[in-house]
Amino acid sequence: MRILVTGATGTLGRALLPVLLKAGHRVRALSRTRHESRGGVEWMWGDLASGKGVAEAVRQVEAIAHLATGGRKGGAQVDLAGTRTLVAAARATGVAHVLLTSVVGADRAPGQRHKLEAERLVKESGMAWTVVRATPFHQRLDGLLRDFSVLPVLPVDRSLPWQPVHVNDVALRLAALLAGGPACAVIEYGGPQVLDTEELARIWLEARHLRRPCLPVRFPGRLAAAQRAGAFTTDAEPSGRITWHDYLFPPPPAPSDDFAEEHTASPTSPANQPEHDPSRHVYGGDEGYQRPTRG
Ligand SMILES: NC(=O)c1ccc[n+]([C@@H]2O[C@H](COP(=O)([O-])OP(=O)(O)OC[C@H]3O[C@@H](n4cnc5c(N)ncnc54)[C@H](OP(=O)(O)O)[C@@H]3O)[C@@H](O)[C@H]2O)c1
Repeated sequence: MRILVTGATGTLGRALLPVLLKAGHRVRALSRTRHESRGGVEWMWGDLASGKGVAEAVRQVEAIAHLATGGRKGGAQVDLAGTRTLVAAARATGVAHVLLTSVVGADRAPGQRHKLEAERLVKESGMAWTVVRATPFHQRLDGLLRDFSVLPVLPVDRSLPWQPVHVNDVALRLAALLAGGPACAVIEYGGPQVLDTEELARIWLEARHLRRPCLPVRFPGRLAAAQRAGAFTTDAEPSGRITWHDYLFPPPPAPSDDFAEEHTASPTSPANQPEHDPSRHVYGGDEGYQRPTRG
């Protein structure tokens, strides 16, 4: 099947491309940066915010994995307007299945309006659809803790539950859902464990060889209250299998003759954590595929 991946250069997109390639799909990837097509991926330039390149990107694809996001700042332009543009172009050309990634809690926590509205656009698109709501990725919590660690003490609200998930697990789930065809349902997907903030921070400090006293706090506000009430966790099955500890303490990569196998199956392979070294090879075939970087 030919599948267009938006957000292909993002944290999840970089994990999804090799999984789709390995499953035998033809993969087209959208980015606002021009990339050379190689390693089995056909790169297309396009910008969901302006709509440029979108009609060309959706042409002759059977399914779309719509991962692109503008985050908090660009949510209105990318998640909202961009999804509207993508859906209209996809419907016009007869794409059979649109899968949208969203966040667990989109329907029950404040501040998720753009994701919820994007879900609605996809559901009401007139096309067959699937929405996958995931819990926060390991990389995101890693970054959050890194930001907090500049402080001499780590503020820790024990009452907040977290359910981090590895992008490789999410990628496998997305690939299975794409192969299975449209579910026309909202599917939640979370990590294998729910940890409180103190456990999360303790494992992280150990992995990063840092010492910080943890200062017990209670974060105020509606967002924290929603999280406390479980808005960002899910008991949906199946769930991911790679734990926070696995992510932070990766085993040394086993030597392998099969480059693709090594770079997709091993969840903690350095190649699967490209944010630690953006110039690292992420996946490829015999000729070796280099992760495109912005020019
Ligand atoms: N991060 C998390 O913890 C988390 C948790 C649950 C669900 N999710 C969801 O999972 C999906 C992927 O998240 P992520 O963390 O992998 O994203 P990310 O790393 O922030 O990457 C964002 C992607 O969106 C693309 N993009 C941004 N603006 C664009 C535009 N105007 N036109 C086209 N592409 C644009 C970027 O591509 P270029 O820069 O190459 O154009 C990039 O590939 C999102 O739907 C997100 O809401 C994320």
